Amino acid sequence: MLKETLASGCARIDSALDRLLPPETQIPTSIHKAMRHSVFAGGKRLRPILCMEAARMISAQRNGNQEELPARVEELGSALEMLHTYSLIHDDLPALDNDDLRRGKPTCHVVFGEAIAILAGDALQTYAYEVLSKLPCASDARVRIIEEVARATGTVDGMIGGQVLDLEAENKRTNELNVEQIHRAKTGALITASLVTGGLFAGGGHAEVQRLRDFGRAIGLAFQIVDDVLDVTQSSAQLGKTAGKDTATEKATFPAVLGVDESLSRADALVAAGCAALDSFGRRADTLKDLAHFLVERKS
Ligand code: IPE
Ligand code: IPE
Ligand code: MG
Ligand code: MG
Ligand code: MG
Repeated sequence: MLKETLASGCARIDSALDRLLPPETQIPTSIHKAMRHSVFAGGKRLRPILCMEAARMISAQRNGNQEELPARVEELGSALEMLHTYSLIHDDLPALDNDDLRRGKPTCHVVFGEAIAILAGDALQTYAYEVLSKLPCASDARVRIIEEVARATGTVDGMIGGQVLDLEAENKRTNELNVEQIHRAKTGALITASLVTGGLFAGGGHAEVQRLRDFGRAIGLAFQIVDDVLDVTQSSAQLGKTAGKDTATEKATFPAVLGVDESLSRADALVAAGCAALDSFGRRADTLKDLAHFLVERKS
């Protein structure tokens, strides 16, 4: 069941992204090739899948229909994946984490050069907002979605702010509170926004959206704790990105502060607390809960 959710979610997002992004043959071809290189290198598509499953749950709650995804919700999911991929292209640049392997392929700047990689990241960000501006949902929900996404990727408790804190914490003594603040911002915020915007797209009310936010905050932090642990415990081949990088650059990470075992038990506790926030949705929350467990059990 979970396997099927992941596989069909991936396929749906891949085909929407292919439709929404300009073809490689579009001039200027270099940037469209670069954008597609990174977008289609093989990501897990977790943010869009969480978004779509949140939308499915809320729409079932409202219409008594368990099966159907709201029409064209994959466009919202695709915009989130464009933003996530932009963040990865920039994260890998020599000025940031300086990585040459991503999603099992050479990074964007290694293949296309730094200038095109920077611009490809920028372009994925602007395309994301073009897609969001055309979302087929109530106009007040559309505006709230755009605000939510902009804040989640911005400088105050959002992705960019978190990336700044992450870079500034390199080679410094750190503590759990500091790492938690970095992780909530650089990774947790976009994961939370994926769930919240899925709920808004499906017409969720204040209380429903708040429960999705509580779930997202918990599993978003758990997700980055696990990312830090995998950097220590897995190989580059398994991860599709350079393993052991955080230790080499003295990044502020959970395993650096708490060790691997304690980090994993924190992640488990966060997932349990996150799932409890969805209890009032009953069986309709089962898929999101399964996804939350998958986030901490994944090996890549
Ligand atoms: C990697 O995210 C970057 C982080 C925020 C930790 P994912 O592990 O979701 O990467 P992809 O999208 O599957 O490549
Ligand atoms: C990246 O965190 C977070 C964002 C891209 C916003 P990491 O630097 O830990 O991600 P990986 O390990 O390179 O995927
Ligand atoms: Mg980084
Ligand atoms: Mg990195
Ligand atoms: Mg990492």
